Amino acid sequence: MRDNRFMALDVGKIREDFPVLNRRDRPVIYFDNACMTMKPVQVIDSVLEYYREFPACAGRSIHRLSSEVEENWNRARKVVKKHIAAKREEEVIFTRNTTEGINLVARSLGLKAGDVVVTSDREHNSNLVPWMLLKEKGVKRVYVKPGEDGLFSMENFESAMSRDVRMVSMVHTSNLDGYTLPVKEITKIAHDYGALVMLDGAQAMPHKEVNVRKLGVDFYAFSGHKMLGPTGTGVLYGRRDVLEELEPFIVGGETVESTTYEDYTILDPPERFEAGLQDYAGIIGLAAAVKYLEGVGKDNIAKHEARLNRIITEGIRDIEGLSILGPQEPEGREGIISFVIDGMHHHDIAMLLDRNAGILIRSGQHCVHSWFNANGIEGSARASLYLYNTEEEAELFVEKLKEIAGLR
Ligand code: ALA
Repeated sequence: MRDNRFMALDVGKIREDFPVLNRRDRPVIYFDNACMTMKPVQVIDSVLEYYREFPACAGRSIHRLSSEVEENWNRARKVVKKHIAAKREEEVIFTRNTTEGINLVARSLGLKAGDVVVTSDREHNSNLVPWMLLKEKGVKRVYVKPGEDGLFSMENFESAMSRDVRMVSMVHTSNLDGYTLPVKEITKIAHDYGALVMLDGAQAMPHKEVNVRKLGVDFYAFSGHKMLGPTGTGVLYGRRDVLEELEPFIVGGETVESTTYEDYTILDPPERFEAGLQDYAGIIGLAAAVKYLEGVGKDNIAKHEARLNRIITEGIRDIEGLSILGPQEPEGREGIISFVIDGMHHHDIAMLLDRNAGILIRSGQHCVHSWFNANGIEGSARASLYLYNTEEEAELFVEKLKEIAGLR
């Protein structure tokens, strides 16, 4: 394991771990990390190890293969618990993704008519639609209007708060533009009003040290596949006392202690929320991804992304008709550069970058349709960086984007 205390990021060494980045027949510059990250051999091997060595179920059978799965599964929970500084292992619930974690909380909280849920103005559909669905129960949802700079307004947040607010559910770092909300202050104010707080950490957890206890949040949801882990893996952190109050969302095998023909006895968290056979291989792979990131050091990753983001921001800023969404300085946007160019469709930008230079970005509304619709913007082109991207890639991106913009 690398010692991250004294070393900057060794990108060349890191890239050796990613088979997809070393394909000679089809070289790519991968700048779509906010959607899905690539996987290192350490993660791939740990998934394969499950399938090769002990592809059985955990928690049901008592034979030796099952014990091996159980051991690895429990170890994965310990790894995640330590990574996010949760107090107890039972506070870590394995899910398929951030979306599932948020749905679980929205469906299980038992919100009723008159209760209010507060979100920001830039929520991913995953932190919007689950709350909208509760309208049929009379639950009200309000969003915090942005300030004049288009960013989070603490003043507007305080105006949105009241004693009826049961939940403040906000994005930690936005996938739309890389902007990070002042979540510590938000949490403090929400708690002063007696509300619970959940953060959508899908874009923050891959790049930031997240200490759920220091943040003081009640729930924190994130995805494994955006942090080098296998697809369809995620985590919901929930504070133990709050989790105990939640009704289970999906029930069945492993969520109950016993049943009769008339009734059931429900298990404690986390089992209460992990129904049916689980993605053992995926979660074991997720733990390997966490270990990998810890070995590199998230502070090192964030600094590296900031360096690349500055190269790109300064390089593209003077392209005529180009506007960057969100904070204008790269330090306020983590590893994301989301932009529009007058007279060019965002899908054309993405297609030409791929076709002309093998540079892969995302274009569209990034599942934040509400923000785009409210702002009358059709969509954006978005480059998102990670630990294996290089300065040369950032420079080539600038060069190719200038060429493409010149085609107008
Ligand atoms: N929410 C993911 C993205 O921004 C899918 O690309």
